[in-house]
Amino acid sequence: MTTTLIIGTQWGDEGKGKVVDYFSKNADYVVRYHGGNNAGHTIKVGEEVYKLHLIPSGVIQGKTGVIGNGVVLDPEMLIKEIDELTKRGIKPKILISDRTNIIMPYHKILDGAEEKYLGDKKIGTTKRGIGPCYSDKVARRGIRTIDLTNKNSLSKKLDQIIPIKQRILDVYNIDKKLDKKEILDAYIRYGEKLKNFITITHIELNNAIKNGKNIIFEGAQGTMLDVDFGTYPYTTSSHTIAGGAAIGIGISPKHINSIIGIVKAYTTRVGEGPLPTELFDKTGEHLQQKGHEYGTTTSRPRRCGWLDLVVVQHSCMISGITKLAITKLDVLNGLKQVKICTQYQLNNRKIDFFPANIEDVRKCKPIYKELEGWNKIDKDASKLSDLPKEAQEYLQYIEKELQVPIALVSIGPGRRETIEV
Ligand code: IMP
Repeated sequence: MTTTLIIGTQWGDEGKGKVVDYFSKNADYVVRYHGGNNAGHTIKVGEEVYKLHLIPSGVIQGKTGVIGNGVVLDPEMLIKEIDELTKRGIKPKILISDRTNIIMPYHKILDGAEEKYLGDKKIGTTKRGIGPCYSDKVARRGIRTIDLTNKNSLSKKLDQIIPIKQRILDVYNIDKKLDKKEILDAYIRYGEKLKNFITITHIELNNAIKNGKNIIFEGAQGTMLDVDFGTYPYTTSSHTIAGGAAIGIGISPKHINSIIGIVKAYTTRVGEGPLPTELFDKTGEHLQQKGHEYGTTTSRPRRCGWLDLVVVQHSCMISGITKLAITKLDVLNGLKQVKICTQYQLNNRKIDFFPANIEDVRKCKPIYKELEGWNKIDKDASKLSDLPKEAQEYLQYIEKELQVPIALVSIGPGRRETIEV
């Protein structure tokens, strides 16, 4: 039996979809445990490209995809995703926790309203209602999947919640009347469609662990978007670090056998907030163009910069990462020189940790190790020694600095463009 947790070590978009798909070969279950349809995972199989936001990537391989209690679920979007996959010949096997919180129409409206209110201090959210839904969960006024299966109880909950939400919308000057009947009818309809998937997933998964099944826990976003350990307040609203998995699934941390940290060979971020190694020059453009760095969910161009090992080290420590998967190494092809940030200069100090104060983060100037670049990576490379000497040195430097072994290197979007170490 193995349970493998796969998480992003940067600001998300590290290429988790491909790595999860790769490791799903031998899995029985693939489990999402936090976030919602703010995530976007791209999987390329032959000429087919699948873009998933909610359904765990492993379903493409015919595995059972589980949506854990820690996820925030937009049922309308999930039904759309299921329908689209079904049309393309994949009938996804899905289980949804009966405790998963549901994104309601007022969450989406409020996400937009709060961003507008913040003006130039906005977070740059995906406007999918993620933050407002998690806020309601913690405030104990969330709607959960189980509520979608009982009209009477959902109706009573909406009677309590809707007047409050209406007043908040008025404060934000949003001219929208929330129609309880319309919301109730729509969400009961979603419940009807999803009821066969809703189950007690934590019991199913604990039994699966007991019975020696192979399970992949699929993280979304990345460490720097964690609500405690990321660039707060420019983060998402969930726990993206390894510790989030146990809570968002309902299993003991002792059941997680290995933790793979995905490291993109450079850095990207979408949305607002500081990014110490951000590049505004031709190299930044190179990374954006060659890496096709546009958001899967919002199509926004991603901001790009050199690899930041202060960030990845922070992630390795907090999540206890046991193996690294380096992605998009090929995007660095053609650069004469490549740089890796190893420390920050903050005022007159050199630091190697990530500061809590966002104003300090803005002041951090990266200190770089410069390495020689390489021209090209052979698409058929199947072992590390097939890579150019300089690319091998780049990987060795990362491994040495982080003291965590590299288990996989991705050199292109296709399944075959993967080197297992
Ligand atoms: P939210 O999760 O929609 O509230 O957005 C909060 C921040 O997280 C914004 O900067 C988003 O761009 C970022 N974010 C959310 N999901 C992802 C993701 O899957 N990849 C990268 N950034 C994300």
